[in-house]
Amino acid sequence: MVGAWIAEAAARRFLITPVMTYGMTLSLVTGLALAAPWPAGIVLNYPKLGTKLVILIALGAVLGIGTARQRRAGGPVMGLFIAAGILPLLASAIAVLWN
Ligand code: HEM
Repeated sequence: MVGAWIAEAAARRFLITPVMTYGMTLSLVTGLALAAPWPAGIVLNYPKLGTKLVILIALGAVLGIGTARQRRAGGPVMGLFIAAGILPLLASAIAVLWN
């Protein structure tokens, strides 16, 4: 997700790309797999995981709306592009800092 975003920013294209959506889907799948209470009995930080899930849903909305809007505008939509960069970084910061 972040790699695709940096590539777009570095190339000065500022477009939301399918790679970002793949990254988002992959982090959802891997996140949900990690969120399974396995082995049975381990305690997970569900408020933290719920927060990340909410961020991911917001990110999905930003990517979906961004893809549609930039297609209609025929070019980058800056506010949504910036949101598509900040949200995964926020999720990573929460992942690492919130214990
Ligand atoms: C943009 C989306 C996401 C990003 C960038 C992200 C990032 C990360 C990172 C960097 C870690 C490693 C943390 C560490 O080792 O200290 C991690 C761990 C983890 N993530 Fe995510 N994550 C995302 C979404 C999710 C979602 C949606 C869930 C589940 C609902 C989830 C569940 C977990 C779990 C269970 C772990 C391992 C336990 C932990 O460190 O809390 N993640 N994630």
